[in-house]
Amino acid sequence: MKLFESYKIKNITLRNRVVMPAMCQYTADTDGFANSWHQLHYGSRAVGGVGLIIVEATAVEKRGRLSNHDLGIWSDQHISGLQAIVDLCKSQGACIGIQLAHAGRKAWGNELVAPSGIEFSNQFPNPQALSKQDIAEIIEAWKKGARRANQAGFDLLQIHAAHGYLIHQFLSPLANQRHDEYGGSREYRLRFLLEIIAAIKEEWPAEKILSVRLSASDYLPGGLEIEDHVYIAQVLKEQGVDIIDVSSGGILPVNIETYPGYQVKFAEQIKQAVDIRTIAVGLISQVELAEEIIANQRADFVALGRELLRNPYWVLHATERLSNQYWPEQYLRARNFTKV
Ligand SMILES: Cc1cc2nc3c(=O)[nH]c(=O)nc-3n(C[C@H](O)[C@H](O)[C@H](O)COP(=O)(O)O)c2cc1C
Repeated sequence: MKLFESYKIKNITLRNRVVMPAMCQYTADTDGFANSWHQLHYGSRAVGGVGLIIVEATAVEKRGRLSNHDLGIWSDQHISGLQAIVDLCKSQGACIGIQLAHAGRKAWGNELVAPSGIEFSNQFPNPQALSKQDIAEIIEAWKKGARRANQAGFDLLQIHAAHGYLIHQFLSPLANQRHDEYGGSREYRLRFLLEIIAAIKEEWPAEKILSVRLSASDYLPGGLEIEDHVYIAQVLKEQGVDIIDVSSGGILPVNIETYPGYQVKFAEQIKQAVDIRTIAVGLISQVELAEEIIANQRADFVALGRELLRNPYWVLHATERLSNQYWPEQYLRARNFTKV
């Protein structure tokens, strides 16, 4: 099956196309340090055969956390805990990335910042509109986060520009009503992300993988649509981004009609129009659907979120009849249940 074939990108070989997407565990201590839960949680998916693990949204600034138990990367002291996760997962043959994030107006606490002083909902305090000086400082925090992610040994860095968090707030006219060079036209709203990418590239080695997660639709009048993201993906490709992880929604509370593979069409449109690698995600649980997406080249990778929470050994189960597939040596006697 194509799904379980290895895939080389730059000098990094993924053992298959199955990705564990970023999923917050809300389990770090209040200073953002990783602990034994994170090792066990990510290590299990590495033993379970996942090709690429993306560590949960990790805050580049303390005030940018989604909760007060998010992982953090705003200090050099965070590096060793993250490195322990990296070493563990790599020792089990997985590639490992990290999602860097800033929640902006959807952050935990009272120190909320955003492109404009418009709250996400009445359950969040009114955010402070960022000055140009503040923007420069936040970009610097992303840059330092990239340096630390590299020092921790990650293969991939993913910029969280989706789900209504700070970068998405700059991208979408529903949250960005600035009148300076960071707001207004599509090009100006993209500036913040492009400046973050330029800063990250000063620290993140060119031979490692750079990814951006986007929300392909705001699902609201006046919001971003897939056409905007085709344009954004084109510019990101020109800036050296290797993979777009294609999610949707989050800029404002909205009901999304979901069904198996409901976001695959977005990943496919971006891949076809821009010729950039994409990750498809969203209610993908069945191996047949995952294989269909890869074999028909609708995306280059499939991410299974909640399915991998339910079943860390999804890949092993899916490949138990494929004799050339990875299985942990220690579990080989369990592979063929008709023989003792
Ligand atoms: C517990 C949980 C935490 C999540 N945390 C993040 C996160 O840190 N960053 C992110 O981009 N998406 C996050 N997501 C969204 C997932 O990455 C994924 O896009 C979503 O669950 C849809 O995929 P699925 O239907 O396979 O679960 C989270 C989802 C869950 C269930």
